[in-house]
Amino acid sequence: MSESTISTEADYGPLTGLIGTWQGDKGLDIAPDPEGTENNPYYETIEYSACGNITNAETQVLAAIYYRQIVKQKSNDGVFHDQTGYWMWDVARQLMMHSLSIPRGVCVLAGGRYSGSKAPTGEVIIEVTAQADDVDWGIIQSPFMAGNARTTTFSQSIAVGNGKLSYTQTTMVDIYGNTFEHTDKNELVLSS
Ligand code: HEM
Repeated sequence: MSESTISTEADYGPLTGLIGTWQGDKGLDIAPDPEGTENNPYYETIEYSACGNITNAETQVLAAIYYRQIVKQKSNDGVFHDQTGYWMWDVARQLMMHSLSIPRGVCVLAGGRYSGSKAPTGEVIIEVTAQADDVDWGIIQSPFMAGNARTTTFSQSIAVGNGKLSYTQTTMVDIYGNTFEHTDKNELVLSS
Protein backbone atom coordinates (compact mmCIF):
# COMPACT_ATOMS: atom_id res chain seq x y z
CA MET A 1 0.00 0.00 0.00
CA SER A 2 1.32 3.46 -0.85
CA GLU A 3 1.89 5.93 1.99
CA SER A 4 0.17 8.85 0.34
CA THR A 5 -1.44 9.79 -2.98
CA ILE A 6 -0.82 13.53 -2.80
CA SER A 7 2.50 15.23 -2.18
CA THR A 8 3.09 18.95 -1.92
CA GLU A 9 6.10 19.11 -4.27
CA ALA A 10 5.36 19.03 -7.97
CA ASP A 11 6.74 19.95 -11.38
CA TYR A 12 3.89 21.82 -13.04
CA GLY A 13 5.77 22.05 -16.34
CA PRO A 14 3.94 24.25 -18.88
CA LEU A 15 1.26 24.99 -16.24
CA THR A 16 3.71 26.63 -13.81
CA GLY A 17 2.97 30.15 -15.03
CA LEU A 18 -0.75 29.80 -14.33
CA ILE A 19 -0.51 29.74 -10.54
CA GLY A 20 -1.93 32.95 -9.07
CA THR A 21 -4.92 35.25 -9.45
CA TRP A 22 -5.69 36.76 -12.86
CA GLN A 23 -8.01 39.52 -13.97
CA GLY A 24 -9.08 40.60 -17.44
CA ASP A 25 -11.65 42.97 -18.90
CA LYS A 26 -11.31 42.33 -22.63
CA GLY A 27 -13.66 39.34 -22.70
CA LEU A 28 -16.05 38.65 -25.56
CA ASP A 29 -18.66 35.91 -25.37
CA ILE A 30 -20.76 34.86 -28.36
CA ALA A 31 -23.65 32.77 -27.08
CA PRO A 32 -26.81 31.18 -28.47
CA ASP A 33 -30.10 33.03 -28.25
CA PRO A 34 -33.55 31.96 -29.48
CA GLU A 35 -33.50 35.00 -31.81
CA GLY A 36 -29.96 34.28 -33.10
CA THR A 37 -26.81 35.40 -31.33
CA GLU A 38 -25.85 37.23 -28.14
CA ASN A 39 -22.59 39.23 -28.07
CA ASN A 40 -21.59 39.77 -24.46
CA PRO A 41 -18.50 41.80 -23.50
CA TYR A 42 -17.25 40.60 -20.12
CA TYR A 43 -14.65 40.82 -17.37
CA GLU A 44 -13.48 38.03 -15.08
CA THR A 45 -11.27 36.73 -12.29
CA ILE A 46 -9.57 33.32 -12.43
CA GLU A 47 -7.72 32.00 -9.38
CA TYR A 48 -5.37 29.04 -9.95
CA SER A 49 -4.00 27.16 -6.90
CA ALA A 50 -1.32 24.48 -6.83
CA CYS A 51 -2.56 21.07 -5.59
CA GLY A 52 0.69 19.07 -5.78
CA ASN A 53 1.21 15.63 -7.29
CA ILE A 54 -1.53 13.05 -7.58
CA THR A 55 -0.46 9.43 -8.18
CA ASN A 56 -2.78 7.08 -10.08
CA ALA A 57 -2.42 3.28 -9.83
CA GLU A 58 1.04 3.91 -8.36
CA THR A 59 2.39 4.65 -11.85
CA GLN A 60 0.91 7.84 -13.31
CA VAL A 61 1.95 11.10 -11.67
CA LEU A 62 -0.13 14.21 -12.38
CA ALA A 63 0.81 17.70 -11.24
CA ALA A 64 -2.57 19.39 -10.66
CA ILE A 65 -3.80 22.94 -10.44
CA TYR A 66 -7.29 23.79 -9.22
CA TYR A 67 -9.09 26.90 -10.47
CA ARG A 68 -12.25 28.93 -10.02
CA GLN A 69 -13.39 31.28 -12.78
CA ILE A 70 -16.03 33.95 -12.19
CA VAL A 71 -17.22 35.90 -15.25
CA LYS A 72 -19.30 39.09 -15.13
CA GLN A 73 -21.21 40.75 -17.93
CA LYS A 74 -20.09 44.35 -18.60
CA SER A 75 -23.65 45.45 -19.34
CA ASN A 76 -24.97 44.84 -15.80
CA ASP A 77 -22.03 43.58 -13.66
CA GLY A 78 -23.91 40.32 -13.04
CA VAL A 79 -22.15 36.93 -12.83
CA PHE A 80 -23.16 35.11 -16.03
CA HIS A 81 -20.66 32.26 -16.04
CA ASP A 82 -19.21 30.31 -13.10
CA GLN A 83 -16.71 27.53 -13.81
CA THR A 84 -14.38 25.33 -11.82
CA GLY A 85 -11.95 22.55 -12.63
CA TYR A 86 -8.40 21.23 -12.72
CA TRP A 87 -5.51 21.45 -15.10
CA MET A 88 -3.26 18.36 -14.93
CA TRP A 89 0.19 17.77 -16.37
CA ASP A 90 1.52 14.25 -16.99
CA VAL A 91 5.21 14.86 -17.57
CA ALA A 92 6.02 11.21 -18.45
CA ARG A 93 3.47 11.20 -21.28
CA GLN A 94 3.81 14.92 -22.15
CA LEU A 95 0.03 15.04 -21.79
CA MET A 96 -2.15 17.96 -20.78
CA MET A 97 -5.62 17.51 -19.29
CA HIS A 98 -8.31 20.00 -18.35
CA SER A 99 -11.38 18.89 -16.43
CA LEU A 100 -14.13 21.48 -16.02
CA SER A 101 -17.61 21.72 -14.67
CA ILE A 102 -20.28 24.39 -15.22
CA PRO A 103 -23.55 24.68 -13.32
CA ARG A 104 -25.70 23.90 -16.35
CA GLY A 105 -25.21 20.15 -15.87
CA VAL A 106 -22.19 19.90 -18.18
CA CYS A 107 -18.74 18.45 -17.42
CA VAL A 108 -15.79 18.21 -19.80
CA LEU A 109 -12.53 16.25 -19.71
CA ALA A 110 -10.41 17.77 -22.48
CA GLY A 111 -6.90 16.63 -23.28
CA GLY A 112 -4.06 16.71 -25.73
CA ARG A 113 -0.37 16.07 -26.17
CA TYR A 114 1.71 19.09 -25.26
CA SER A 115 3.34 20.37 -28.44
CA GLY A 116 5.92 22.61 -26.76
CA SER A 117 4.96 25.47 -29.05
CA LYS A 118 5.45 29.07 -27.97
CA ALA A 119 4.07 32.41 -29.11
CA PRO A 120 6.59 34.72 -30.88
CA THR A 121 6.70 36.73 -27.61
CA GLY A 122 7.60 33.61 -25.59
CA GLU A 123 4.29 32.61 -23.97
CA VAL A 124 3.67 28.87 -23.55
CA ILE A 125 0.79 27.62 -25.71
CA ILE A 126 -1.45 24.85 -24.39
CA GLU A 127 -4.23 23.25 -26.45
CA VAL A 128 -6.87 20.72 -25.40
CA THR A 129 -10.00 19.29 -27.03
CA ALA A 130 -12.97 17.08 -26.15
CA GLN A 131 -15.93 15.61 -28.03
CA ALA A 132 -19.21 14.08 -26.92
CA ASP A 133 -18.91 10.33 -27.57
CA ASP A 134 -15.09 10.36 -27.64
CA VAL A 135 -13.81 7.52 -25.46
CA ASP A 136 -10.72 9.41 -24.27
CA TRP A 137 -11.61 13.11 -24.02
CA GLY A 138 -15.32 13.46 -23.49
CA ILE A 139 -18.29 15.55 -22.44
CA ILE A 140 -20.91 14.46 -19.90
CA GLN A 141 -24.22 16.33 -19.79
CA SER A 142 -27.58 16.04 -18.10
CA PRO A 143 -30.52 14.45 -19.92
CA PHE A 144 -32.08 17.93 -20.32
CA MET A 145 -28.94 19.40 -21.88
CA ALA A 146 -28.40 16.32 -24.08
CA GLY A 147 -31.92 16.81 -25.43
CA ASN A 148 -32.13 20.62 -25.65
CA ALA A 149 -28.66 22.20 -25.71
CA ARG A 150 -26.21 19.38 -26.45
CA THR A 151 -22.50 20.26 -26.31
CA THR A 152 -20.84 18.30 -29.11
CA THR A 153 -17.25 19.59 -29.01
CA PHE A 154 -15.03 21.79 -26.84
CA SER A 155 -11.65 23.16 -27.84
CA GLN A 156 -9.42 25.59 -26.00
CA SER A 157 -6.09 27.26 -26.56
CA ILE A 158 -4.34 29.24 -23.83
CA ALA A 159 -1.13 31.26 -23.91
CA VAL A 160 0.61 32.02 -20.62
CA GLY A 161 3.83 33.83 -19.72
CA ASN A 162 5.35 37.26 -19.08
CA GLY A 163 2.56 38.04 -16.56
CA LYS A 164 -0.11 37.58 -19.26
CA LEU A 165 -2.74 34.93 -19.88
CA SER A 166 -4.97 34.80 -22.94
CA TYR A 167 -7.40 32.15 -24.10
CA THR A 168 -9.81 31.36 -26.89
CA GLN A 169 -12.34 28.55 -26.70
CA THR A 170 -15.09 27.16 -28.90
CA THR A 171 -18.03 25.13 -27.60
CA MET A 172 -20.30 23.69 -30.29
CA VAL A 173 -23.88 23.46 -29.05
CA ASP A 174 -26.92 21.91 -30.76
CA ILE A 175 -29.70 24.28 -29.69
CA TYR A 176 -32.91 25.82 -31.08
CA GLY A 177 -32.77 23.46 -34.06
CA ASN A 178 -29.27 24.56 -35.14
CA THR A 179 -25.61 23.97 -34.40
CA PHE A 180 -24.24 27.05 -32.66
CA GLU A 181 -20.57 28.05 -32.39
CA HIS A 182 -20.39 29.42 -28.82
CA THR A 183 -17.06 31.22 -28.40
CA ASP A 184 -15.23 32.97 -25.57
CA LYS A 185 -11.94 34.81 -25.44
CA ASN A 186 -10.14 37.10 -23.02
CA GLU A 187 -6.77 38.54 -22.05
CA LEU A 188 -5.83 38.66 -18.38
CA VAL A 189 -2.97 39.97 -16.26
CA LEU A 190 -1.55 38.53 -13.05
CA SER A 191 -2.95 40.52 -10.14
CA SER A 192 -1.40 38.51 -7.25
C1 HEM B 1 -16.21 32.53 -20.44
C2 HEM B 1 -16.90 31.42 -20.61
C3 HEM B 1 -18.39 31.37 -20.92
C4 HEM B 1 -19.34 32.35 -20.90
C5 HEM B 1 -19.16 33.81 -20.55
C6 HEM B 1 -20.58 31.75 -21.31
C7 HEM B 1 -21.80 32.41 -21.44
C8 HEM B 1 -22.96 31.88 -21.96
C9 HEM B 1 -24.18 32.60 -22.24
C10 HEM B 1 -24.38 34.09 -22.02
C11 HEM B 1 -25.06 31.71 -22.75
C12 HEM B 1 -26.47 32.02 -23.27
C13 HEM B 1 -27.53 31.54 -22.37
C14 HEM B 1 -27.74 32.41 -21.20
O1 HEM B 1 -27.97 33.62 -21.39
O2 HEM B 1 -27.69 31.88 -20.09
C15 HEM B 1 -24.41 30.42 -22.77
C16 HEM B 1 -25.00 29.26 -23.20
C17 HEM B 1 -24.42 28.02 -23.13
N1 HEM B 1 -23.14 27.73 -22.72
FE1 HEM B 1 -21.77 29.07 -22.18
N2 HEM B 1 -20.37 30.41 -21.54
C18 HEM B 1 -19.05 30.14 -21.32
C19 HEM B 1 -18.43 28.91 -21.42
C20 HEM B 1 -19.07 27.73 -21.66
C21 HEM B 1 -18.45 26.42 -21.59
C22 HEM B 1 -16.98 26.16 -21.24
C23 HEM B 1 -19.43 25.51 -21.89
C24 HEM B 1 -19.36 24.01 -21.97
C25 HEM B 1 -18.27 23.34 -22.23
C26 HEM B 1 -20.64 26.25 -22.14
C27 HEM B 1 -21.84 25.68 -22.49
C28 HEM B 1 -22.98 26.38 -22.78
C29 HEM B 1 -24.19 25.75 -23.24
C30 HEM B 1 -24.40 24.27 -23.45
C31 HEM B 1 -25.11 26.79 -23.47
C32 HEM B 1 -26.55 26.65 -23.99
C33 HEM B 1 -27.57 26.84 -22.92
C34 HEM B 1 -28.54 27.98 -23.19
O3 HEM B 1 -28.24 28.88 -23.99
O4 HEM B 1 -29.59 28.00 -22.59
N3 HEM B 1 -20.38 27.59 -21.99
N4 HEM B 1 -23.13 30.55 -22.29
